[in-house]
Amino acid sequence: MIKTYNMRFQKTHPELVIGLMDLIDHVYNILHKKLTVIEVGSYKGESATVMLRTDKVDKIYCIDPWKAYVKKYQFIMNEVERIFDTTFEKDVRVVKYKGTLDTFLQQISKRDIQQTSIVYIDTNLSYEEVKQDIQTARNIIRPYFVCGHDYNIEKWDDTVVKAVNECFGKPNRTFIDSSWIVRL
Ligand SMILES: C[S@@+](CC[C@H](N)C(=O)[O-])C[C@H]1O[C@@H](n2cnc3c(N)ncnc32)[C@H](O)[C@@H]1O
Repeated sequence: MIKTYNMRFQKTHPELVIGLMDLIDHVYNILHKKLTVIEVGSYKGESATVMLRTDKVDKIYCIDPWKAYVKKYQFIMNEVERIFDTTFEKDVRVVKYKGTLDTFLQQISKRDIQQTSIVYIDTNLSYEEVKQDIQTARNIIRPYFVCGHDYNIEKWDDTVVKAVNECFGKPNRTFIDSSWIVRL
């Protein structure tokens, strides 16, 4: 079933929507085919919603442990996960995976992900984790593009920016929502 999503957050975060749509357009205009996305860090599914709304994505693997860092706040993550589940129930384009990129790759067959167009990394902002996920994406999955969120020099110079620059020099392009992209 193809759903048209309500994007209430478009009003509060228009740049998030515009930037991510531009990123999807950028890739689509190069590949000329609908995209398979692996998103690392999906939370409530807002970025997945934006990608699907472009109608240029025909499959998205959404990876997230939905686990709070502090145990007593796990009830908040449970609610976040419930929102994700409700948003995408019955949408066959969305494949939810509860875990990390590493555990996902241990369980999925290589054949299923060999057509991956982009890996989009939007986890919490640890330099080590972002760098590890970039390296896993580029060396194991080998999508056409590796990309992600939070390439923001003022806010995340020591985390995402550092990880991306160490892996690639710098991104090929950045977008208004601070998404970044590199073509492999
Ligand atoms: C900023 S939120 C993602 C927002 C989401 N992309 C959106 O725009 O709707 C970060 C998410 O990364 C998840 N996360 C943290 N560490 C992770 C990891 N190692 N692998 C996958 N997801 C992770 C968190 O649980 C959280 O839901």
